[in-house]
Amino acid sequence: MSHPALHAPIQAIHLSDYTPPNWLVRDVHLTFRLDPTRTRVLSRITFAPNPDAASRDFALDGENMTLIQAAIDGVDVTPVVTGTGLTCDVPDAEFVWEAEVEISPSTNTALEGLYMSSGMYCTQCEAEGFRKITYYPDRPDVMAVFTVRIEGGEPVMLSNGNPGKAGDGFAEWHDPWPKPAYLFALVAGRLVAHPGSFTTMSGREVALNIWVRPGDEGKCAFGMQALKDSMRWDETEYGREYDLDLFNIVAVDDFNMGAMENKGLNIFNSSCVLASPETSTDANFERIEAIIAHEYFHNWTGNRITCRDWFQLCLKEGLTVFRDAQFTADMRSAPVKRIEDVIALRARQFREDNGPLAHPVRPSSFVEINNFYTATVYEKGAELIGMLKTLVGDDAWSKALTLYFQRHDGQACTIEDWLQVFEDVTGRDLAQFKRWYEDAGTPRLSVTDEFKDGVYTLNFKQQTPPTPGQESKPPRVIPIAVGLLGQNGDEVVETQLLEMNKAEQSFEFTGLSSHPIPSILRGFSAPVILERETNDAERAFLLAHDTDPFNKWEAGRALARAGLLAMIQDGAAPDAAYLAAITTVAQDDSLDPAFRALALSLPSQDDLAQALFDAGDTPDPQAIWDALETLKDARAKAMEGAAKTLHKQYQVTAAYDPGAEQSGARALANAALAIITRRDGGAAAQAQYDTAGNMTQQLAALGCLLQAGKGDTAVRAFYNQWQTDRLVIDKWFSLQVAFSAPDQAAKTAAKLTQHPDFTMKNPNRFRATLGALAGSPAGFHHASGAGYKLLADWLIALDPLNPQTTARMCSAFETWRRYDSARQSLIKAQLDRIAGQATLSRDTAEMVGRILQS
Ligand code: TRP
Ligand code: ZN
Repeated sequence: MSHPALHAPIQAIHLSDYTPPNWLVRDVHLTFRLDPTRTRVLSRITFAPNPDAASRDFALDGENMTLIQAAIDGVDVTPVVTGTGLTCDVPDAEFVWEAEVEISPSTNTALEGLYMSSGMYCTQCEAEGFRKITYYPDRPDVMAVFTVRIEGGEPVMLSNGNPGKAGDGFAEWHDPWPKPAYLFALVAGRLVAHPGSFTTMSGREVALNIWVRPGDEGKCAFGMQALKDSMRWDETEYGREYDLDLFNIVAVDDFNMGAMENKGLNIFNSSCVLASPETSTDANFERIEAIIAHEYFHNWTGNRITCRDWFQLCLKEGLTVFRDAQFTADMRSAPVKRIEDVIALRARQFREDNGPLAHPVRPSSFVEINNFYTATVYEKGAELIGMLKTLVGDDAWSKALTLYFQRHDGQACTIEDWLQVFEDVTGRDLAQFKRWYEDAGTPRLSVTDEFKDGVYTLNFKQQTPPTPGQESKPPRVIPIAVGLLGQNGDEVVETQLLEMNKAEQSFEFTGLSSHPIPSILRGFSAPVILERETNDAERAFLLAHDTDPFNKWEAGRALARAGLLAMIQDGAAPDAAYLAAITTVAQDDSLDPAFRALALSLPSQDDLAQALFDAGDTPDPQAIWDALETLKDARAKAMEGAAKTLHKQYQVTAAYDPGAEQSGARALANAALAIITRRDGGAAAQAQYDTAGNMTQQLAALGCLLQAGKGDTAVRAFYNQWQTDRLVIDKWFSLQVAFSAPDQAAKTAAKLTQHPDFTMKNPNRFRATLGALAGSPAGFHHASGAGYKLLADWLIALDPLNPQTTARMCSAFETWRRYDSARQSLIKAQLDRIAGQATLSRDTAEMVGRILQS
């Protein structure tokens, strides 16, 4: 039961209601007089009537602030002020608006607008945070040149663009590039710089800095190199040059998301920029490199060309994720990156697409835009870009991108603008492709085959299940990359692109002497669920012979999955075919160790739950856990010797390097250690823990010890060693939850929330603890309901402080309809309890409402 009357009204905004802004902004002058509880913001803004607008009514957005004074053309005015903004009578022509407002950064726990983190002032304005700083038309299609003056005597005072005058207690900044308000940023406090410099392709010198709190200087070198690599890569691959004299990155401890692409002043969650071998894992290094690239690439795809409205979010995010994935593929291993991305896509986006929160890559309505920074917009959005590139080919892709940058530089654009560029370059009609942006849901692609008279035929059918608000979906164009293997394992037909554009379609291959083995959806050429009746023998064959690294990995994954499903559904024993095949792959020294480590990873509990649900079963989280444990034990027995050899063989003796080669070796050695631990009870893990020379080794060993039930000493030692390093202690919090037995996970998490180092005000710490619980299905869904209750308690506690992080974490409950009625009613009771809070943020109310509605 919910109490809508007590909530702020939940009003949806619709894409179809878009109208251009009544007033455009010529320029913006801001003065900040910084004070923790009483910051004054003075604005002087030149407004000009928009010739494309139907009305000249004047309204500004503004929240959580006190208006001290307002004037138009130097004459005081008294606007009508509400909780969300103001309206005012204005002249019929260009005028100068001046206002002074007061805001309180130190009490801003939502981490949106101007707030304080560890004594330092910082901002987060995307999507609609600028309206918490001053009254403004806070929408991305209003772009303006900003000049900023910061007063407050902080040692370092930064804003966007290039530095201007600075002196006794003040600093001025000017950003010559017109930008929407969501890209505004300000940082002030006691910070130190790790400097660098970059010479652009036209020979301009750009000063670079990574700003951190004193003490973190030693964790900046990797990020700086990643920034330089990103700048060079965007020049060589896309011809994009940086456009200011200065590029600053700031690390902030309290941050809702990963990082933010503010013009010339990127702000990062410290976990996404600070790195050292002692404190960061190889996976952390890879992620940091990718996020630095991502934010940097936004300078062109997001900032120079921005979004007309927030429905177009995927215009910048899908494209920028695609670009950062290309970058990582170039810097490291392309196949390994692709496999990692597909694992993440299935874990987060397919899950979203199959539940009550399913929405199109370009949604057509929303209540709270912060709830739409989703796996669908980002990761599926990037998949759409990848398909488009596949469909038009590399040449047309690069012509189209050049045209896009040239035609739309300085504009706020739509998906229609983006697709038009491709239509103009290729002459191709992309109307059907556009459905990928408009229809939610993951298409099911089923395939059968036949071989007759030398002709091999693949028969495809596509079908997309209904999603909230979208009952039936027309067929989409699906690029299907296919290769064929002969019975001896040789490739008889190299990768070809099949373009499916009907509900059912067949493709023929001629000139074959025998029935080939198909390798379908190579490189995961489309974000679909491929359904094919096949068998262990064929999967093992493809695992051994496929030339496409993605499908080779996929075959091993399918083998493991089929065996696990048989164990869960029919009580089958662990699949001998899988055990034999995976042992062979693990020992195949011709294969990249990173690939082999990925081949050894097993399908996730959540993936198995969805598979069981799709097969018409009710998944039992405990049974899934038990099957995985049984399989891991059987695998440890089958490959104990091989694992010991691999663990030795892939020890890295050279000085630590976070690059692909060493990190691949460590990944394989650590996968082997987990296998060994199931046989030796933790002896090898303890030895590795005691001698670990880097965090990758130390953390892997700690995980193994926890898994073996031998973690107590190491857990204490780890805390004592790292208690002053927040980012490492986050790992300490999450690992203990993640490695708890299902009946202990909620208890462990509850106990950790009582630890003196736990604070819900820091999103990283909150996620490390409660997010780890939500990410451990058997523990979270334990039949007692303790996991549900604990998470709900903490979401209820956090919502008044930080709606954005609370709302995101509600997605822990999004799969509830999969489970048995006892679990469903336990979850529903918690969702109702959250929904019934007397004051609930719009963010959380929308999420809980959508989840319950299913
Ligand atoms: N635009 C950012 C990115 O993708 C993400 C972002 C959106 C964000 N809203 C945010 C980051 C709020 C921090 C806080 O790079
Ligand atoms: Zn982004």
